[in-house]
Amino acid sequence: MVKKIILDTDPGIDDALALIAAVRCKDVDVLGVSVVAGNLPLDTVTKNTSAILAALNSPARVYPGASGPLYGKLQDASDIHGPGGLGGWRPPPDASRIDSCHGAEFIARTAAAFPGEVTLVTLGPLTNLALAAEHFPGDVEKLAAVVAMGGALGVPGNVTAVAEFNFWADADAAAVVLDSGFSLFLVGLNVTRNMVLAQEDMLALTRGDAVAQGAARMIEFIVANEGEYPFHDPLALTAALKPEFFTWDTMQVNVETRGTLCRGQIIPCKDGERGAAIKIATGADYRRCRDFLLDLWLGGV
Ligand code: BDR
Ligand code: CA
Repeated sequence: MVKKIILDTDPGIDDALALIAAVRCKDVDVLGVSVVAGNLPLDTVTKNTSAILAALNSPARVYPGASGPLYGKLQDASDIHGPGGLGGWRPPPDASRIDSCHGAEFIARTAAAFPGEVTLVTLGPLTNLALAAEHFPGDVEKLAAVVAMGGALGVPGNVTAVAEFNFWADADAAAVVLDSGFSLFLVGLNVTRNMVLAQEDMLALTRGDAVAQGAARMIEFIVANEGEYPFHDPLALTAALKPEFFTWDTMQVNVETRGTLCRGQIIPCKDGERGAAIKIATGADYRRCRDFLLDLWLGGV
């Protein structure tokens, strides 16, 4: 059965790789893409998303959302994602794909239009979903599930020693989402750092169509600069579409919102303490994930 999804994202290289995979997956109907300031400012992620959708010839529209976290100022990650934010891949933006509806409202309206059918996949800070939960609670509760890339459980963070970027960039929004009672699946750094591509996989991408070549260019850029593959968001998307590739634990967790040293840290709760019970990915069959994603980047399955 075709799965209805909304992507909430901040492209950024790994977001772009996830978006390409989602649009090219024949079992998925991408109902729209809400965007949020995170890796880069809102204007840049909006343009980048419109450009990627145009390159893919997708009918999905772009819904600009929050331009910064619920409180405080955005500290983006533009230094990591290169010129333009897509590692030097520069597909032309397409303003005609950009909608005037706010991303948070789009999420809520779409959840209400297809009650119990829509999976929201969040790949950036959780600001849009937190705003939707605050302003349209009766609508967002109709989401079938939320699959979120975020958090670092039992592994070092990638912004501070304990915090992962999406939870750190808007820890208050993460706390709102954890408290909102969604059927929430969290895919964090403990699983998203572990997938690698072989040399021949990269070669296949460079021999693919223009979008596959764009994917290769983005991956090469980030590997050259960061020394590792950035498959956080593609793995979160894979978890949404192929949960059976992953192992999951049910846990009660909170997020630290105020600590100066540990903002954005996920804190597991003991029985009886307050904390949302959610599913957290604990491992994955990375070979199956790689095969699945590579096929999609190369044109779709
Ligand atoms: C997450 O933060 C962003 O930089 C990436 O796009 C990913 O969503 C990884 O911590
Ligand atoms: Ca992201």
